[in-house]
Amino acid sequence: MSQVNPHNVVIRVSFIAALAGLLFGLDVAYVNGALNFIIRDFNLDVSASGYVAGYLLAGSAVGALFSGWLSSRFGRKNVLVLSALMFTFSITFTLLAHTFPLFLAARFATGLGVGIASFVAPLYLSEIAPFKIRGALIAMYQLMITIGILLMFLSNAALAHTGSWRIMLSVLLVPSVIMLIGTLTLPESPRFMALINKMDMARQILSKIRSTQAEVNFEMNEIKETIRTKDSRLAILCKGYFLKVVLLGILLQCLQQFAGINAFMYYSGKIFEMAGFTNPAIGTIIVGLVNVLTTLVAIKFVDKLGRKPILYLGLGILIISCAVVGYIFNLQSAGVILSEMQQYLLVGFCLLFIFGFAVSLGPIVWILCAEIMPLEMRDLGVTISTMANWIFNTIIGSYTLVWFNTIGIGQTFWMFGFASCLGLILIKYFTPETKDVRLEELEANLKAGVALKNIGLRVK
Ligand code: BGC
Repeated sequence: MSQVNPHNVVIRVSFIAALAGLLFGLDVAYVNGALNFIIRDFNLDVSASGYVAGYLLAGSAVGALFSGWLSSRFGRKNVLVLSALMFTFSITFTLLAHTFPLFLAARFATGLGVGIASFVAPLYLSEIAPFKIRGALIAMYQLMITIGILLMFLSNAALAHTGSWRIMLSVLLVPSVIMLIGTLTLPESPRFMALINKMDMARQILSKIRSTQAEVNFEMNEIKETIRTKDSRLAILCKGYFLKVVLLGILLQCLQQFAGINAFMYYSGKIFEMAGFTNPAIGTIIVGLVNVLTTLVAIKFVDKLGRKPILYLGLGILIISCAVVGYIFNLQSAGVILSEMQQYLLVGFCLLFIFGFAVSLGPIVWILCAEIMPLEMRDLGVTISTMANWIFNTIIGSYTLVWFNTIGIGQTFWMFGFASCLGLILIKYFTPETKDVRLEELEANLKAGVALKNIGLRVK
């Protein structure tokens, strides 16, 4: 066995892979603070200003579309390197862009990097992690997203006085270069090596990241077993069990987005402004902070309490907070001037909403989507669920302000709350508990025709 502590190697490797999440977060939150300066410099009207976020999101959906194919063709590690390269170059091009079409092309390219990274990082993490801490390691990816969002909210606020979207964007170059250097040092995923028939390499890599020879042998046997029984990809594509998990992945991502988190990530300033606060930037920073701290709580508990109990708790909190926030905004729409007490209650429940999301749907949806897919089709399965995330994200990003203006902000929150009610059904009847179960066991149960919500139960 290796001399270095395998646990430390796994943590280091996971940290580098999770940097992809940081860039995801930084990019999402950048527009929030820089949009006004971009509009001023390129002289944009309202619809053109929507393209600034839209081109990134569209690029992300396209990136996610190709990421499955890329990672099964070139390997998980190489694709992580590719996404880091795309970040570094596309951000440099954006900084140099002097016309709006060039700026948009560069944003689209950054989106490609975000889309690819948001697919391959959780996939890589799920394949490299020992099963006991798998949930926590994938959740680290989500933690990095939230840290990225918070850092960008802070950096936006600190650099706003420069009035320069270029200076605000240049901050992104630092983590891009760190990720590029870091990903070059990563080992390839042992499961990918086994998939391309390089069993010795797979064993060598596993020896570096597992504590005992017994663990290595056990995991190698399991991987071989999964591959030995593998059907052709085309055949699997049409199999009921694959379609079932893919559909579950899409629905989980739909739930994650329609629960309404990005209404806050993109428009928290607007929401606090509508609630009558004069300094919405402070509210936005507190939102970012609660998001990060709560994700830390989730990481601590996800492998101990399990995925489903935490999801029930989170959805319950989301439903209650949407009901209260919606009610107070509805009072306001009916002409009531909110008292100071009502305003603080509103902010309190908005923060509770962020807590409810960050402890549950935020990390756990990414964890489940990476865990439930069968090995030989994991790339395609995760591609589809990640694309679904970006498509639903685009819908929320583009229409939230429209909903605020048409059906009203209170009703919009009630709609988000209703989505979480439907989510309870999805979790109770269709989602498996995957805590403490090996990926290979999940897969064996899935293929044996066990009902989706029971595939995490031990084979007797
Ligand atoms: C979601 C993003 C969201 C972020 C907020 C992620 O899990 O996929 O859309 O912006 O959480 O922390």
